Amino acid sequence: MRKLILAALAASLFAVPVASQAQDPIIIKFSHVVAEDTPKGQGALKFKELAEKYTNGKVKVEVYPNSSLYKDKEEIEALQLGSVQMLAPSTAKFAPLGVKEFEALDLPWLFKDEDTYEKAMKGPIGQWLFKKLEAKGITGLAYWDNGFHMVSANRPLLMPADFQGLKFRISGSKIADRYFRDLGSIPQIMAFSEVYQALQTGVVDGCENTPSNYLTQKFYEVQKDITVSNHAHLQYAVIVNSKFWNGLPPDIRAQLEKAMAEATDYTNSIARKENADALAKIKQSGKTTLHYLNDDQRKAWQAAMRPTYKWAKGRVGQPVLDLIGKELHVDMN
Ligand code: LMR
Repeated sequence: MRKLILAALAASLFAVPVASQAQDPIIIKFSHVVAEDTPKGQGALKFKELAEKYTNGKVKVEVYPNSSLYKDKEEIEALQLGSVQMLAPSTAKFAPLGVKEFEALDLPWLFKDEDTYEKAMKGPIGQWLFKKLEAKGITGLAYWDNGFHMVSANRPLLMPADFQGLKFRISGSKIADRYFRDLGSIPQIMAFSEVYQALQTGVVDGCENTPSNYLTQKFYEVQKDITVSNHAHLQYAVIVNSKFWNGLPPDIRAQLEKAMAEATDYTNSIARKENADALAKIKQSGKTTLHYLNDDQRKAWQAAMRPTYKWAKGRVGQPVLDLIGKELHVDMN
């Protein structure tokens, strides 16, 4: 009798979680730091829409834009701890993961144009970099584009000498730190959500970013001069906690992979136009002056920043530089 009662008790205890498990959706928290009205912001919403549709609601994606859940560094730590399941940080922010090779993508004047960037990331470079994440308990799912950086201050930045002594906010990459130093300026790592105020109050003099981020964060309102220099590229890696991802039922994971592939195509297809539109709006605002480099000015920047390539070897290692050099047919010395 006692055995029976115990068995019934055990059955009732087990019945509850199994039944509720069947009904409760799997939650994916997707945290990011930018506004919704940007390529990454739109990409995250597209993934949510498709993931929920393809899994018939078995998965619910909660998107937290604008650093509303975590700021830059915190979000990477939260992913490793499993408090958030999906992120799309810029590849310049991977150092806290102990994977420095991604910073090779921040080398100045590396990608000739958007087509070169796309080719690189769809090919062996992108895959090789993702392999580096595996040992960290992180799985890379996709690369999302956000175009080329502009750079700004409250004075025109046309020649390397114009950077002398200015403080620039950078997002985390030691390669960016190096090229700003090559220009005689003082770089400072700062969370994305703090940049507007730091520019406004003069904690830093300038920053670099893409047009969509300048527009949505209103950086252009507190920077008198922006140089549309295209000196470096901003891309994101969509990453998940591997334990979470590998623990999903295989059919669900397959649907999520399909949703991610489509959300990636979507994001990358809108990135150029979103940035072109953002630049047009910044221009129309009349609040800042846009500058474009002539050939001589560009060459002067390139020459001044060149020492970063030599320095990079000690930071990111020779293998990734060799791979990029081979794939893009560029001189990495
Ligand atoms: C930055 O911090 O400047 C960028 O990484 C923001 C972003 O994610 O686009």
